[in-house]
Amino acid sequence: MKLKVITSNPGKVAEYRRSLSDLGLEMEHLRLPYDEVQTSDLEEVVNKGMDEIIAKGVRDFIVDDSGLFVDALKGFPGVWSAYAQKTIGNGGILKLMEGVEDRGAEFRCCIGCDIDGRRIVVTGVCRGSITLSEAGSEGFGFDPIFTHDGRRTFAEIPIEEKNDVSHRGNAVRLLAEQLKKMGLVG
Ligand code: IMP
Repeated sequence: MKLKVITSNPGKVAEYRRSLSDLGLEMEHLRLPYDEVQTSDLEEVVNKGMDEIIAKGVRDFIVDDSGLFVDALKGFPGVWSAYAQKTIGNGGILKLMEGVEDRGAEFRCCIGCDIDGRRIVVTGVCRGSITLSEAGSEGFGFDPIFTHDGRRTFAEIPIEEKNDVSHRGNAVRLLAEQLKKMGLVG
């Protein structure tokens, strides 16, 4: 079966291809802009996006939305992560966290999959904390200020290791489990 990955980010297509091709799923990149509703809930963003895409007549696709949720900032930047990354950046988050003792945070990734007329929505989480300063040059976005093991940031570990523990890796594993359980893949 072929699934369209609806995103403006070709890196995501490669990631899905790598992790889902074992299930016999073929991935195809489709750029199709859709509205991201204003809500603080990733699943709601994904579900509303899926409704809009289906209303345009497109079926058999994957969309996702992810973000960094900082405990002490009441979940900010959350669904506004891409905007926060572009505007205040990692330095801005560190500034907001100056003198804050509770540094707990988590990355979340919500994947919506429309397949064979059915809908699967899963959310993968990775718990960790915000570091005191930036470190590392791997990865992207908030990777240099997030650590899952309290020792190294996501920007200091190889991509394979990040995939083993990351929110996106966990979400893809949950999706694969659901697809198998529903008998939609071998
Ligand atoms: P989106 O899912 O592509 O919309 O991601 C939203 C934003 O969340 C990105 O622009 C990044 O700033 C941030 N983000 C999501 N996943 C990660 C990650 O794995 N590492 C670092 N930042 C991430």
